[in-house]
Amino acid sequence: MKIAKFFVNLAIALILPVALSAQQADQAPAAKPNPHMESHIGDLTGHSEAGADLYYRYCWGCHGARGDGNGENAPYVTPQPRNFVAAVFKCRSTVSGFLPTDDDLYNSIYRGFITSNMPSWKVLSAQSRADLVAFIKTFSARWVTEKPGVPITVPPEPPVTVASIKHGKELFTKLECWKCHGPEGRGDGPSANTLTDSNDQPIRPYNFYTGYRFKCGTTNQDLYKIFITGVDGTPMPSFADVIKPEEAWDLVHYLRTLQIWNKSPELALWEGTPEGAAIVKAEKVHQTYTGSGIHP
Ligand code: HEC
Ligand code: HEC
Repeated sequence: MKIAKFFVNLAIALILPVALSAQQADQAPAAKPNPHMESHIGDLTGHSEAGADLYYRYCWGCHGARGDGNGENAPYVTPQPRNFVAAVFKCRSTVSGFLPTDDDLYNSIYRGFITSNMPSWKVLSAQSRADLVAFIKTFSARWVTEKPGVPITVPPEPPVTVASIKHGKELFTKLECWKCHGPEGRGDGPSANTLTDSNDQPIRPYNFYTGYRFKCGTTNQDLYKIFITGVDGTPMPSFADVIKPEEAWDLVHYLRTLQIWNKSPELALWEGTPEGAAIVKAEKVHQTYTGSGIHP
């Protein structure tokens, strides 16, 4: 009896710490490649030590204790929370493949990603958001071994003209945006159902018809940046090498006309032409019960 008890105790003594440490390892933050980081946003300097407290209060449920995107809520969320260890970011002012700037991350945290589960954190103070940016950068060695990319230049926007919109329409066809985004921009192109992101999860192309805000901003400048920088970690490519700046603006002007429920100068001008009026009318009919019944 005594001997058996001894072995049971021995087994408990050996196994329990292993089991406990496994459980703790699951919850505890792992050692990070960068113990201390700063961020610089305008006059603000963010500190990762202050950001850590905020992160383990507000963010880790989704982004994970180790910043790997595997928080306890992650299985219920699509697209999945960003993995800060991989440090591949969607919304950048920098060239595809490069790290974003501190400002890019700060703006994403402020804005939130409207068609996903990433909330807006504008309730936090500017200093807190800067501290969070610094803390996010502790998770990946990339922030030490690489420099953030240089922001692309967005040239001044030329006036909106019918010629510009029409040229943008041609580019939308020529560059095959329609293969993913659909010929009318409804996010239902022939490739739409086959696309996956870097987590091997299905990802839908943006549906212009819904008129939702873009993940990476709201202005024409933001829209320009999206297809020049690409959305890293998704099949949405960068077109920086194939379009000239004035062509990019033509595309911006045309894309605005696809958002038929958003009032914009581009849409107003387009609806003033017989061609544009017919296209927009057909799109509006599309949404009614007599249309083909596809709803946004
Ligand atoms: C409810 C879950 C949830 C919480 C809480 C959350 N996030 Fe996110 N976050 C997401 C998801 C999901 C994405 C990816 C969205 C996408 O890819 O469309 C994301 C993406 C991001 C990105 C990536 C931006 C880019 O350009 O790729 C950053 C930075 C970020 N979150 C920071 C934070 C910070 C900081 C907090 C806490 C203050 C936070 N998140 C809290 C779900 C969450
Ligand atoms: C191979 C498929 C594919 C092609 C080709 C493609 N896109 Fe996309 N695009 C996507 C996907 C997928 C997303 C959604 C990314 C996300 O939500 O994370 C997207 C998102 C976008 C967005 C919204 C980004 C945001 O911030 O919410 C815009 C604008 C856009 N694409 C414009 C274009 C334009 C213009 C072209 C052609 C010049 C183009 N796309 C070609 C797949 C594609």
